Amino acid sequence: MNTRETLKVNEKGHLEIGGCDCVDLANKFGTPLYVFDEAYIRSMMRVYRDTIEKEYAGNGMVLYASKAFSCEAIYAIARQEKVGVDVVSGGELYTAVQAGFDAKNAYMHGNNKLPREISYALDCGIGTIVLDAYTEADLVDEEAKKRGIVQDVLIRINPGVEAHTHAYVQTATTDSKFGFSTQDGTAQSFTSYVLSKKNLNLKGYHCHIGSQIFEKQSFVLAVEKNLRFIAQIKDALGYEAQTLNLGGGFGIWYTDEDAKIDVNGYKGYLQALIQAVNVGCEQYSLKKPYLLIEPGRSIVGEAGITLYTVGAIKDIPNVKKYVAIDGGMFDNPRYALYQSKYTAILANRANEAPCELVSVAGKCCESGDLIGVNLNLPKAQSGDIMAILSTGAYNYSMASNYNRNFIPPVVLVNEGNAEYIVKPQTYSDLVRNDVIPDRLK
Ligand SMILES: Cc1ncc(COP(=O)(O)O)c(C=O)c1O
Repeated sequence: MNTRETLKVNEKGHLEIGGCDCVDLANKFGTPLYVFDEAYIRSMMRVYRDTIEKEYAGNGMVLYASKAFSCEAIYAIARQEKVGVDVVSGGELYTAVQAGFDAKNAYMHGNNKLPREISYALDCGIGTIVLDAYTEADLVDEEAKKRGIVQDVLIRINPGVEAHTHAYVQTATTDSKFGFSTQDGTAQSFTSYVLSKKNLNLKGYHCHIGSQIFEKQSFVLAVEKNLRFIAQIKDALGYEAQTLNLGGGFGIWYTDEDAKIDVNGYKGYLQALIQAVNVGCEQYSLKKPYLLIEPGRSIVGEAGITLYTVGAIKDIPNVKKYVAIDGGMFDNPRYALYQSKYTAILANRANEAPCELVSVAGKCCESGDLIGVNLNLPKAQSGDIMAILSTGAYNYSMASNYNRNFIPPVVLVNEGNAEYIVKPQTYSDLVRNDVIPDRLK
């Protein structure tokens, strides 16, 4: 088993997370259940925050990319840890504000922010809006004018670096729905447009080159290209960006095909970025920008696991064996979406050696409803508690009520204590917004 700081096997042979026995958690809270280790989340936020503090003279901020996992408690933790947040919808912003998070430390993203989301963000006193379209620049400018304010904004640029896990490609053209290309003049034209708007204050640029990336060089290359672009804009328009937001994307461990980076290892990624910023600013004679990073997956991904109970087992001779669990694509759609790979453990028999490759199937009426194929497990039996590891990012936040299943509750564990941060749904939650028109009664 690939052990992580937060996970261990206890003397009963049970998997533990954050000092809590997973079998006890399953008995107490039921399954399926998302479990997050608070200490892991906090240590990740701190390592990024402290690195900016110590190695970049505090001239920047960590923004937790809350699309990875959004609920009130995570914004409360971010507030306590003095990190900002990246939000991508009115709903994420509302959740943050409900949790007492100061909207001035929130950055709003999205390639098509709705008029009502922009209006709500300004009402909340959002810190910065990251513009990704001409229509957005017009809308934010109008809404800011109505309120008699000047709104801080960044422009999302695409520096032509596309990164995918262990590789990256440089492209002069882009087919991404995100950002304005720095290679074909569109980012420069949009910069002039934003600078012409009286109620917008252009602070600088944002880019995000991808997710689940391990190759440091791809981040370094993006920094170089961004700084070169900032220097070009300074020459062409006399405008020098004060802020550079480098997005998120640091990879995490899902299976032994991925590197296992410990909390401090992530510091190395940020140090490489800082080093590249220092070198580039020297080279292009630029002032060191206020630096932002937006890690999501690396903060919460490995902090979370999902517990399930094994139900039906279907062995199709000479074909494959399905082990069905009480969850599925409604709590984790990532296999169905991207054929994502996971590691599974039988939490009640965590010391037993794996002996067979199985497909872990969900309970939805959908053949593609799988958590994974070829997962290596001991011989599973009905009633076993299965833990799927590294499910903290893009699982709960992507969950749905498909087939009218409940979105599982979320429990936060910390040094042996466990408490709900998202309560279980009930049948009445499922019909809460349903309406039967009179003519159907
Ligand atoms: C703009 C932006 N920032 C940050 C992130 C977070 O990336 P990750 O969770 O890989 O760190 C994303 C993810 O898609 C993103 O689109």
